[in-house]
Amino acid sequence: MSQTRKIGLSLGADHCWPACYEEIVRTLNLRLPLGSDTVDFAVERVRVEPFDLAAPKKYDLVLDRITHWFPTTREWVKKIAIDGTYVLNNPWMIQSAEKHTTYVAMMRLGFPIPSTWLLPPKQYPDEPDTNTTVRRYNKLFSLETVGNEVGYPSFMKPYDGGAWRGVNKVDDLRGMHKSYDESATQVMHVQKAVDNWDLFVRAIGIGPQVNCIKYDPAAPLHARYVVDFNFMDAAGWQTMQRYARVINAFFCWDYNSCEALRSDGVFHPIDFANACPDSQVTSLHYHFPWTVRSLVGWSLFAAYTRRKPRINPNWQPYFDIADTPDLPFEEKLAQYDALARDYFEADRFEEFRQTHLKNLDEVCIEFFRTPRAKEIVREKVAMLFPKHEIEQFTEHFYGLVQFWCKTESERLGNTR
Ligand SMILES: Nc1ncnc2c1ncn2[C@@H]1O[C@H](COP(=O)(O)OP(=O)(O)OP(=O)(O)O)[C@@H](O)[C@H]1O
Ligand SMILES: [Mg+2]
Repeated sequence: MSQTRKIGLSLGADHCWPACYEEIVRTLNLRLPLGSDTVDFAVERVRVEPFDLAAPKKYDLVLDRITHWFPTTREWVKKIAIDGTYVLNNPWMIQSAEKHTTYVAMMRLGFPIPSTWLLPPKQYPDEPDTNTTVRRYNKLFSLETVGNEVGYPSFMKPYDGGAWRGVNKVDDLRGMHKSYDESATQVMHVQKAVDNWDLFVRAIGIGPQVNCIKYDPAAPLHARYVVDFNFMDAAGWQTMQRYARVINAFFCWDYNSCEALRSDGVFHPIDFANACPDSQVTSLHYHFPWTVRSLVGWSLFAAYTRRKPRINPNWQPYFDIADTPDLPFEEKLAQYDALARDYFEADRFEEFRQTHLKNLDEVCIEFFRTPRAKEIVREKVAMLFPKHEIEQFTEHFYGLVQFWCKTESERLGNTR
């Protein structure tokens, strides 16, 4: 008997990774044994349409990218998660755990997050209930006191973050007032700047897999992810991988990225509620194939094994470790990571990868060398760049993808 696992891609403006994902799954053409049955996979793009709240389950797994801004899909995704569909990412944890909550929770676990305060908004909409509440209960406060508590320089930025909107570096009280005035009705954080950082890392986590990439925030958008190989030692890699995996398991996010700045050898996480991370070849270039391959591997594993969606997070075991007296943070982190690996079934995933996806690495390398892959890169470039730059940037990004194929085949050759 043959069973088909249905995978839905719930997309917005995403173009390149879904097209590559579909090509790779098609090329793999899997027929995996399961008892006396075989399992194959069908991928389709989810359409937005009216739905019956009692409609039967249609997909085994949905990879969603629009929950955070497209309410119709968000509510559909919640419905199917309740029905048992495995959804990347958990929609409730996207809706409820914005940047602020992630700071608070990871501080509770002892992560070295810079000192951060939350400010009530500077302005409020002129509405009767709001006016009464603000008049009765908003306590007049001194921005100077908050500034001194946090220290300068600091960053004033919205409590929910995203796309560098409203992020300002403030060097003194004058800058603090200016930034607060400009923030208008937004709820803001003031966060101590990480001083003298010498390395910025973005760790992208997909299930238990984590890739650590050097990042340059001052570079133009298409060059912020850096191609570099020996920018941190094994201990740094381990720490950043653990940060990303723990945060993702804690919040039930399968696909998220964690930004951290290294200062005096310590990695300070500053932004890790990015549960719809940038996945475009025009940003990730060299790192794009890793991302697509990891999405393919993890989603096939979750679909094949009918991984159960975790609707409610389970935070107490993490808090129990956090509350262990006299345990240094590094040891706590190792213990949190053991919980995270367990949550993501890391060993079982690795076994699945070795047994059933033996040729995934080769298939990906072969695919990314094809004219079809180049065509997908070109289509993405054409969506973002002016006409006269399409050729140049297609060659640039495809060239970096080819470089990945080269380094990756060398890596595989060396390890076999
Ligand atoms: N505490 C800090 N110390 C040093 N630099 C910081 C700090 N907070 C923010 N920054 C700088 O400001 C940038 C934007 O801040 P942050 O990542 O928190 O905002 P965001 O809007 O969530 O960004 P994103 O688009 O990455 O989601 C960071 O990439 C970093 O360069
Ligand atoms: Mg950021």
